[in-house]
Amino acid sequence: MKLQKFFKLAIFAVALMSFGAACVKEGPPGMDGDDGATGAAGKNGVDANETCKMCHKPSNVDAILVQFQLSKHEYGLAAEEEAGSNTCGPCHLQESFRDVVKRNVPATFTLNATTGKYVNDYMSTTATAYGAIGCRACHSSIHETYTSTDLPKLTTVAAVPMSMWGGKKTINITPDGGESNLCVKCHQPRPFTFNNSKNPANTGDVLDYAALVSKPNDIFFDGSSAATIAQAKIIPGYRTHTHYGTVGAMYAGMGGVELTGPTGYASMVHKNVASCGDCHMAPMTGKAGGHSFVAKGNFNGCNVTGCHAASPVTATNAKYWTNPRAEIKLLLEQLAAKLVVTDNGVTAQILNKNSDTEANLWVGLTAGKYDGYLNVYDPATNPGGVANNGVVCQNANPSSSWTAEQKAYNLTLPKIKLTNAQFAAIINFQMCLREYSLGIHNLDYSRALLKNSIAAIP
Ligand code: HEC
Ligand code: HEC
Ligand code: HEC
Ligand code: HEC
Ligand code: HEC
Repeated sequence: MKLQKFFKLAIFAVALMSFGAACVKEGPPGMDGDDGATGAAGKNGVDANETCKMCHKPSNVDAILVQFQLSKHEYGLAAEEEAGSNTCGPCHLQESFRDVVKRNVPATFTLNATTGKYVNDYMSTTATAYGAIGCRACHSSIHETYTSTDLPKLTTVAAVPMSMWGGKKTINITPDGGESNLCVKCHQPRPFTFNNSKNPANTGDVLDYAALVSKPNDIFFDGSSAATIAQAKIIPGYRTHTHYGTVGAMYAGMGGVELTGPTGYASMVHKNVASCGDCHMAPMTGKAGGHSFVAKGNFNGCNVTGCHAASPVTATNAKYWTNPRAEIKLLLEQLAAKLVVTDNGVTAQILNKNSDTEANLWVGLTAGKYDGYLNVYDPATNPGGVANNGVVCQNANPSSSWTAEQKAYNLTLPKIKLTNAQFAAIINFQMCLREYSLGIHNLDYSRALLKNSIAAIP
């Protein structure tokens, strides 16, 4: 398809050139001159087709294009939805991503002296805020020289300063030449920021996890009155979340709130020996592997020499698959069960449930069908249906667009009150649910975050 278009364009260009020539005003023709001497034979040209065929052949780019149809990078809708946004763009739009890499845009937050607010510097130019994530997002140099050096070049393999901490911490996953850092640059959590517009001290700065850890019993949020609400840094809403890309941080053993508790924080061996591609780009089986980037159902990457060849991992292997995943699943359920608010004799779960298999990307991971959002009333996103047993938490920041009836209903709902430890536990739940693999990415880290969260809250 695309190739045909290219050649059509070329033919069109040639046609245009000859039309152009016909428009030039010509003078009267001169007399023919004598024939010149025959010139030396020219050098043999390189057959353009030959260099093209190095890549454009069934076993290479042609095949990869077909695999890529199975990749959410290709079929996902986010790039269309976020087109035009230079703040979402660095992770969702090809040209934005290339722009932030090219200009080495830092992940810092900078204080604007005039407004007194911090600004997230991690954005692209608006002129580049477009483009679905295609080959050129990851391969920076396609058609740069038309030689074999073009394709192996990746857009970036540099260590990644984390947006969630305003760049104060950096992830560097070294196997396979740091290839995973390319993935982590996008597959990283977004920051929680001080965003309570009712609080005069609101600076817009990133949330400091260390403060949550050092004072676990301090109140993080108290929805009991306008005065207490105005003291909060963040008002919990349905969408108070780490965003989707928790994998990069979890894989590196970073990004959770490391509450003090009985279980020590450690990382399993994967991050030291495997790149994302080892499991996500292993030889294809079914619709997984290669440039589909899908790991689900593909154990080819696990069972290579030096890894699990001796005792192969399968979907029924207890030691390496079913047991660890069951353990993390149980811990997620246990933590979720503890995260409740009780007010006026009514108890509501803080974590949202959603049984919609399209909308909830994590629907199959827990029996509770949690999605990592918060079970806070919102007429549009969380009116409080069957999935949440009809009981939702009161929204401390109702929108002026709600009807009088919606506002009145909201006031009948249980108010939220959270300690630092409870808010930390919410973040840790989101991190461990949204890494998708139930601990395969980093079992030790998931286990420690969940166990210590469970231990830290009443
Ligand atoms: C080093 C590998 C490599 C070489 C050499 C190469 N290409 Fe490509 N080419 C690619 C990749 C990768 C793509 C992106 C896949 C796509 O979009 O179809 C691509 C895409 C294309 C496209 C689709 C339009 C576009 O730019 O996305 C055309 C047409 C094309 N190549 C023609 C050629 C021609 C003609 C040659 C030889 C003069 C050539 N290529 C040499 C790797 C190569
Ligand atoms: C330019 C940013 C970017 C880079 C680089 C990137 N990804 Fe992604 N990836 C995304 C986005 C955004 C989505 C979701 C797209 C959507 O939903 O429309 C995604 C989706 C995925 C999915 C599918 C998730 C699902 O819910 O099914 C996998 C798997 C994945 N990426 C793995 C990788 C791996 C492995 C790498 C590195 C080789 C990588 N990605 C590099 C941004 C990126
Ligand atoms: C730091 C990188 C990053 C930024 C910035 C970012 N996202 Fe994402 N987002 C991701 C990744 C990575 C995924 C896919 C992760 C996965 O499925 O594992 C994703 C997934 C999503 C999805 C879910 C898509 C689906 O498959 O259902 C939506 C919606 C979304 N992002 C919206 C936004 C919006 C809106 C913004 C800007 C306000 C934004 N994102 C900014 C990294 C980012
Ligand atoms: C999300 C990032 C990402 C996207 C998008 C992507 N690739 Fe890749 N590609 C990689 C990585 C990482 C490798 C290296 C894998 C490895 O270690 O073998 C790779 C390897 C390759 C190779 C092998 C290069 C070599 O040196 O042998 C080819 C060919 C290739 N990609 C073509 C494509 C084409 C064509 C597309 C678009 C259809 C594409 N890639 C899209 C990340 C990506
Ligand atoms: C040791 C193997 C392994 C490595 C290495 C690995 N993953 Fe995964 N990944 C998995 C497994 C297993 C799943 C869950 C598949 C399932 O649902 O059955 C998964 C799921 C995912 C998903 C959700 C989409 C999907 O296919 O289910 C994303 C996105 C993802 N990983 C990104 C990454 C990124 C980015 C890296 C590198 C930082 C990485 N992974 C490294 C094994 C791995």
